Amino acid sequence: MQVVILKDALEVANYGAKLFCQQLQIKPNSVLGLATGSTPVALYKEITSLYKQQKISFAQASSFNLDEYLGLSGDHPQSYRYFMNEQLFDHIDINKSHTHVPNGNAINPIAACQDYELAIRQAGGIDLQLLGIGRNGHIGFNEPSSSLSSRTRIKTLTQATIDDNARFFADDEYQPELSITMGIGTILESRKVMLLATGAAKAEAIKNMIEGPLSASCPASALQLHNDAVIVIDEQAATLLEHQQFYKQIEAQNQKLQQKLADLPR
Ligand code: F6R
Repeated sequence: MQVVILKDALEVANYGAKLFCQQLQIKPNSVLGLATGSTPVALYKEITSLYKQQKISFAQASSFNLDEYLGLSGDHPQSYRYFMNEQLFDHIDINKSHTHVPNGNAINPIAACQDYELAIRQAGGIDLQLLGIGRNGHIGFNEPSSSLSSRTRIKTLTQATIDDNARFFADDEYQPELSITMGIGTILESRKVMLLATGAAKAEAIKNMIEGPLSASCPASALQLHNDAVIVIDEQAATLLEHQQFYKQIEAQNQKLQQKLADLPR
């Protein structure tokens, strides 16, 4: 795991946006894995700004979102499809028919999960998967005890996740307790993953993910198995890490190496 510790949420968003730029420069028709929630909002703002400055284009790209609430259609304001349109897709040049979010309103949701896996495979697999992390260590909606080799499926949300996400729903509004989510096995097949986390509330999950044992109790710890996972966090989310200084040292060395490679005669 590459652990990048930055000053604050803004630096985390900018770092993430830069990585998206690099990905699309190397491969304009990249298949991007996207996430919802509070964490990526600043990243999507920065990406939108880079697009407006013509520094990034999604014209050839396609995308697959991690998850969706079961029972909400894409035009429901709390659905993740709606969120993605509002926060990103409506502001960039991506072809909307190339953006995929699990269908929370499918007549046969089990078949919809299988279709989603197939669509990812047919697109050639995900090149760069963006992730957030729940306070309980979930990635996507893979809650603690999820199989580390799980595929896209229906998943029951824990009370902790329901409570965490209640802030998005009005008091008298229906809040789903089930979701469709990519599995951990699905996520691990992405060629590169980038997990963003900010704020003290995520510090324990971050510690468990990076320094805890590989365990279904912390689904994000499965990223220890990925050979190209970058964890981008702010100082507050890093506070419980035992080896913080070591990660910073590695990052400084990485940057020196990158500079040396960039300076090589072509
Ligand atoms: C969202 C998702 C979730 C969130 C996680 C953190 O698509 O898959 O795993 O990334 O719940 O959410 P925030 O960023 O709101 O703290």
